[in-house]
Amino acid sequence: MRHVSLDLTTDFEHRTMHGEATLTIDRQPSAKQIVLDIKGLLIARIVDGAGKPLTFEVGASDGLIGAALSVALPEVGDQIVIAYVTAPDATALQFLAPSQTAGKQKPFLFTQGQAILTRTWIPLQDSPGVRVTYDATIHVPSDLRAVMSAAHVGEEDGEVDGIMRTFKFNMPERIPPYLIALAVGDLAFRKIGDRTGVYAEPSIVEAAAHEYGDTENMVEAAESLYGPYRWGRYDILVLPPSFPFGGMENPRLTFVSPTSIVGDRSMVSLIAHELAHSWSGNLVTNATWNDFWLNEGATQYFENRILETLYGQDRMALNQVLEWQELAAELAESKDKPDHTKLCLDMKANEDPDDGVNAVPYTKGASFFSMLERTVGRMRFDAFLKNYFNTHAFQSITSEEFVRLVKQDLFNGDAGAVQAAQVDTWVFEPGLPNNAVPPTSKLLANVDTELDKLKTGVEPPSLATNGWITAQWLHFLKNMPQPRSADQLTALDKTFAFSQTNNRAIRFEWLRIAAKNHYDGAVASMEEHLSTQGRRRYIIPVYKDLVASDWGRPIAERVFAAAKPSYHPLTARSIEQVLATGAQAPH
Ligand code: BES
Ligand code: ZN
Repeated sequence: MRHVSLDLTTDFEHRTMHGEATLTIDRQPSAKQIVLDIKGLLIARIVDGAGKPLTFEVGASDGLIGAALSVALPEVGDQIVIAYVTAPDATALQFLAPSQTAGKQKPFLFTQGQAILTRTWIPLQDSPGVRVTYDATIHVPSDLRAVMSAAHVGEEDGEVDGIMRTFKFNMPERIPPYLIALAVGDLAFRKIGDRTGVYAEPSIVEAAAHEYGDTENMVEAAESLYGPYRWGRYDILVLPPSFPFGGMENPRLTFVSPTSIVGDRSMVSLIAHELAHSWSGNLVTNATWNDFWLNEGATQYFENRILETLYGQDRMALNQVLEWQELAAELAESKDKPDHTKLCLDMKANEDPDDGVNAVPYTKGASFFSMLERTVGRMRFDAFLKNYFNTHAFQSITSEEFVRLVKQDLFNGDAGAVQAAQVDTWVFEPGLPNNAVPPTSKLLANVDTELDKLKTGVEPPSLATNGWITAQWLHFLKNMPQPRSADQLTALDKTFAFSQTNNRAIRFEWLRIAAKNHYDGAVASMEEHLSTQGRRRYIIPVYKDLVASDWGRPIAERVFAAAKPSYHPLTARSIEQVLATGAQAPH
């Protein structure tokens, strides 16, 4: 397939979308049929470009990958038109009640395609190795606005037709299907720079525009590193708190969790990360989900380079150390699962690519890129990456092909140098090769000093914490001496108000300590956090800590039972796995 044209209507009452997808395909002369991916879609009819019915068959349905939709190719022409309706439990779609939004007045809908969820709202070849251009006509209730990972066509405010409003979009570049994205809600827009801006609910759009005020500078910093930004605009969409991720790099329109709005711009590494995907991931894409590290490892490396360019080496190192600590924890947990610590994965047919999302592809991946930089020097490495993005623009690539490029273009075919850098070991073997270098940070050394004081019994009010940014607080909490008594925790909370903070990253680390120490004083805060937040990274580990004890398990079960209807399907599924299998569950 090479182009997808959507004409879809949102149905908030039934929590479905319905309409038509027209696929334009590259016909092989001998081909008789095309096989598409669908999951839960109800297919009403399929016709060719002239309206002539085509025969089709829906294969057996698998709980993970869905079903094959085989369509007989038309006698003439290269178009097939599929009329369908999505299932109310489509994993790619979250319909939110007004109460789950900032404004509390209007409903909201957003899609999430990565990794293999697009097939639950669009029938297509749902593989990152296949690329399409797309256009869309989206009909929504007239008091809402639709935005997509594409350019607006015509009026940005859409055209009203009775009780519905129609928006049109176009994505002229070939992208993998997981990047087709839509959101519908009560959205306002604020300009940040010439090419950048933010969409958010009206009550938070000012705060968002302030928080992401450096976005235009970030685009410029990124371009100065690895070449022109190729997507036209770079806007940010702030979602309601049930959004399951920190961010999602949908082209032209990064989707972010509202947890990144903390007031002091201390979480903007998230924007640097999603922006970096405009090169690593969106321009050059992992060909299969076994190659996911190519998307995320390169992006995390690039994210840190953007931070360094804009804010200096200290800020970059601070970010890197926190990332490294998560990798260390992941490697320790995966001692008996060495295959999970490889960069290039070898997933079996029954494995969900979402379960491979952990610190390994991100931080072992980024560390591999840092090692290459150290080995050949920054000048040569940057030239290599820039050339890689240019020569592979709008293409998908496997780990094997990338490794071949490294050996040939970066090491000029010098087998001894490749061997010394342990390139194959890094990519294809478990664990960390011995030429990995853990990052260190001056800014965290200050935090360690205060942690030492705490260990020797100094009371919290006497600690020197003035001016700490989020990352320093996270380090403080992650490295808190254990165990802590209820009295010690109460003293900490009295001084620093962790239970009350609206900084969800900090609150999350605090709640992990509370859960591990069976601290009754934080249960109310825990209930509030777990029932209003949906960013998986900030809630799954708390659930894991809770189910590990008889003290915590009833809390986890009670909160989940009440909050489940408001969770994103992905989040609900992860928590169900935690309740069933405890700490062994994937992230
Ligand atoms: N592309 C990912 C999110 C993702 C990965 C969704 C795999 C579905 C499957 C995104 O770029 C990402 O990495 N988000 C991170 C934030 C980042 C700063 C590490 C997140 O959501 O935590
Ligand atoms: Zn990412």
